[in-house]
Amino acid sequence: MLEEPPAVTLWHASGNRDERVFDRPGTFDLGRTPNRHMAFGYGPHFCVGSYLARVEIAELLMALRDFATGIEQTGETRRIRSNFLTGLSALSVRFRPDDSGLKEVDG
Ligand code: HEM
Repeated sequence: MLEEPPAVTLWHASGNRDERVFDRPGTFDLGRTPNRHMAFGYGPHFCVGSYLARVEIAELLMALRDFATGIEQTGETRRIRSNFLTGLSALSVRFRPDDSGLKEVDG
């Protein structure tokens, strides 16, 4: 009978906090450069949706910059338990609207 092959797994979340690669690996820093993270995987199965995902995230952040002056947490935080993703399954927040952003859209 053949032996079971060993299981191999990549812990993206751990790799993305490798202190040998990232300065202050626990800090969320949008200006990080270089930023050799593995959130979209690596190699032949690199995420084909990464370009769309980056555009969507950039648009979201720009909309928040233009239309909100702040954000506050209104409910409990629930973390997901996964070796594939680091993230939250629940986080209720309330944005403080900035109406002056609407004026810029209207022209
Ligand atoms: C922030 C958003 C996203 C993250 C963090 C993410 C992450 C990943 C990761 C880590 C992989 C590699 C999985 C592996 O190594 O087996 C992957 C693969 C893939 N992703 Fe994404 N993804 C995102 C958004 C998207 C979007 C928007 C699409 C499609 C519209 C997409 C489609 C795919 C597909 C089809 C693969 C498989 C590629 C292959 O096996 O060759 N992803 N993604």
